[in-house]
Amino acid sequence: MRVHVADHPLITQKLTVLRERTTPSPIFRSLTEELVNLLAYEATRGVRTQPIDIETPVAPMRGLALSEPKPLVVPILRAGLGMLEGMVKLMPTAEVGFLGMVRNEETLQPTTYAERLPDDLSDRQCFVLDPMLATGGSLLAAINYLFDRGAVDVTAICLLAAPEGLAAIEKATQGRDVTIVLGALDDHLNENGYIVPGLGDAGDRLYGTV
Ligand code: URA
Repeated sequence: MRVHVADHPLITQKLTVLRERTTPSPIFRSLTEELVNLLAYEATRGVRTQPIDIETPVAPMRGLALSEPKPLVVPILRAGLGMLEGMVKLMPTAEVGFLGMVRNEETLQPTTYAERLPDDLSDRQCFVLDPMLATGGSLLAAINYLFDRGAVDVTAICLLAAPEGLAAIEKATQGRDVTIVLGALDDHLNENGYIVPGLGDAGDRLYGTV
């Protein structure tokens, strides 16, 4: 597993405003979009391309197009939905699938309550959007789901992660092509499964249900 933690002052500055408890939902949403834009740039460094011949008004040249099959972007509902716009702005031709997962607040185990994905993901590059990598349970379930359907590599984009969640994913995905791109790696998980210092519940903060 490869882990890439963003190291850029603009990302840290935007995360600082996002974390602040008084930041209202509309600003939280637009900052999330901006952050995903920046993280997606890094996360798509390995996107598969093929050479194409074009003509500029001045001369023929060789350029690049995204290879088929097109990459698949999978936001994990509900909070991952807040990251979708930032991702598809960067890669408008990508296909989008959805996975709805909710964690049981007592056991912290994920269950899938919705799924809308192509049946066959053979040879697909997949980009999973999940803002908070806490225990890693729902992200791991999503990653396994995609590999079981034939995906070749999975890149997860997360705003924040806890070391415990990263370690759990690393352990459970040995031998798979998994990359995690993070805005920041936080300190730890608390007894309620929240990332510390974190930003609270990302879904509530995105959708104003605090
Ligand atoms: N999910 C969240 O939204 N926040 C956390 O801190 C952990 C999981």
